[in-house]
Amino acid sequence: MEIELEINGVERTVEASKADSLLDVLRRNGYTGAKRGCDTGACGFCTVHVDGEPVKSCVEPVTKVQDASVETIEGLGEQDDLHPIQQAFVDNTALQCGFCIPGMIMRATALLEANPDPTEQEVREALSDNLCRCTGYKKIVEAVLDAADRTDSGTAVAADGGTAMDSDSETAPDTECSVSDCGPTEGDQ
Ligand code: FES
Ligand code: FES
Repeated sequence: MEIELEINGVERTVEASKADSLLDVLRRNGYTGAKRGCDTGACGFCTVHVDGEPVKSCVEPVTKVQDASVETIEGLGEQDDLHPIQQAFVDNTALQCGFCIPGMIMRATALLEANPDPTEQEVREALSDNLCRCTGYKKIVEAVLDAADRTDSGTAVAADGGTAMDSDSETAPDTECSVSDCGPTEGDQ
């Protein structure tokens, strides 16, 4: 079957089977920023936006996105021209292996669009469906709060730096706890 949808502002017609998830179709068509972690809706690594709302694409049937507008991490910024939220993650060293970061950033982007000046607690609640094995979450929360400040004040963001967020690996790290139930611990980065 054919699915017509918009991906990052471009009209696309993609081949799919009825059993495909949105994540299956995105990755098959080169949008590998959305990561496959649990494949059961538990980790948030595959988060993208559908019609402006954050969605776990591994459990989103592709048949539900006919004629929808989908945004992936590839639509936010380029390696040499990062989106302010991406730049905030880099500047706050809010990533280690990077595997969870595309999903975190898509979730954070949706939060800041709905609530440009969130409290730390609101950030933690918004990211509570997105797991990270590496960072202990403290730096991620700080990055989102920093991004809110930058976006709010219109601060110019330097367009440099690279991240591991575009890794094409299908192998996910183990996930253990969420941002809302793992507070920062000594040695968190
Ligand atoms: S891969 Fe989609 S929620 Fe884990
Ligand atoms: S940086 Fe989050 S899983 Fe590695």
